[in-house]
Amino acid sequence: MKRLAVFVSGGGTNLQRIAEYFAPNPEVEVACVVSNNKDAYANQRAKNLGIPLIMIDRQRFNDKEFSDELKSLNIDLIVLAGFLWLIPQHLIEAFPNKIINIHPALLPKYGGKGFYGHHVHEAVVAAHEKESGITIHYVNEHYDSGNIIFQAKVALSEKDTPDDVAAKIHILEQENFPLVIEKLLFDK
Ligand code: GRF
Repeated sequence: MKRLAVFVSGGGTNLQRIAEYFAPNPEVEVACVVSNNKDAYANQRAKNLGIPLIMIDRQRFNDKEFSDELKSLNIDLIVLAGFLWLIPQHLIEAFPNKIINIHPALLPKYGGKGFYGHHVHEAVVAAHEKESGITIHYVNEHYDSGNIIFQAKVALSEKDTPDDVAAKIHILEQENFPLVIEKLLFDK
């Protein structure tokens, strides 16, 4: 049995997709959702999906005991799905190459502090990019700079607004994220 921890801060559409994708698979379980935002709709999704929800504040997150807690849940892979805090060193050390993130652009472009959510798509449109995409990467102690695992691209048109880009990216995320997770869990 492979056990995932999914970290969220926002809407949780990726969480929903991952949980539904693996629901029929007895080999994979979303063991917990970790949220840093009491107002995140993802929290409600976790409840609806019947997944234990762990709420964190900065203090709990930055304390090494939090790594121990996740270890005691036998987590095989930590999946950041719209999670906005930098990951502390103790977690990176406790889960080497076992923490991945999805970023809604083609890194190394449009990554780093401040490039999250709509800010990314606005910058892509402002730069008249002809394509954008998603990047799934390992997480290190800096924002959006760990080794890249997977990218998928989509063409943009001159007329695309940031909302249009977001919709295209959403489709790529829904299609690819669970498949990449599955590959990482079983292809080693
Ligand atoms: C996604 O676009 C993801 O790439 C980014 O934040 C967004 C999260 O969306 N890191 P959701 O909370 O999964 O709906």
